[in-house]
Amino acid sequence: MRKPYIAANWKMTKTIEETEEFINAFIPLVKDISDVDILLAPPLTSLSTASALLKSTNIKLGAQNVYFEESGAYTGETSPSMLLSAGCSTVIIGHSERRQFFAETDEVVNKKIILARKNNLEVILCIGESLEDREAGRTFEVLAKQLTGSLKDLPLDEITIAYEPIWAIGTGKTATKEQANETHANIREWLRKNKEGADAIRIQYGGSVKPENVEELMAQPEVDGALVGGASLKPDSFAKIVAGAIKK
Ligand code: PGA
Repeated sequence: MRKPYIAANWKMTKTIEETEEFINAFIPLVKDISDVDILLAPPLTSLSTASALLKSTNIKLGAQNVYFEESGAYTGETSPSMLLSAGCSTVIIGHSERRQFFAETDEVVNKKIILARKNNLEVILCIGESLEDREAGRTFEVLAKQLTGSLKDLPLDEITIAYEPIWAIGTGKTATKEQANETHANIREWLRKNKEGADAIRIQYGGSVKPENVEELMAQPEVDGALVGGASLKPDSFAKIVAGAIKK
């Protein structure tokens, strides 16, 4: 069985002080949960502080982005080795906001994953279709194209896929549990056809996940976890999501 995996994507929120406050309140709420992998992805400025606070806990630390070069004249960017030295085990790559606002293509996403994996960072790869694509019946075509481009020349080791329909992110509109399950099943089918080890890969759902809907989403056989934005910003809300992710 695939172990449930719940990740918090804080996006561009929380100062260092707010990060400390969250983590100090959150650790005791989840300390006894061993059946769920838990990840926090705070902004870059909070990573070192978070890393110190999360030592010897059951909570992993991730970054929200990385660059595809090891070092050099790339003002404002961060390399995988810098993330490792800040205490990250994981990095989120290809979030739809990166694709939309920072022009990240599948080719760029692919280069980022290759370098992250070379440095032994675990990766959460985000894919997802727009509302227009879904309504035109192109969902799977779009996802297959993103998977093909993003995973070019890559094995699946230490990669998690986050399926995040763009129309469900931050909108309060969640995909139905049936839509999530069906799309995850299609993603897994693509992985089976094109890569080794597809059955062990975890596929998270993302898009308006909250304490009220996590259980029904996690009850779907193809949903292995969640990538959570808005509802991960408060310790009790995120702790409830983690607890709700334990497979019954
Ligand atoms: P949301 O964001 O939970 O606020 O919809 C999810 C995400 O973008 O990862």
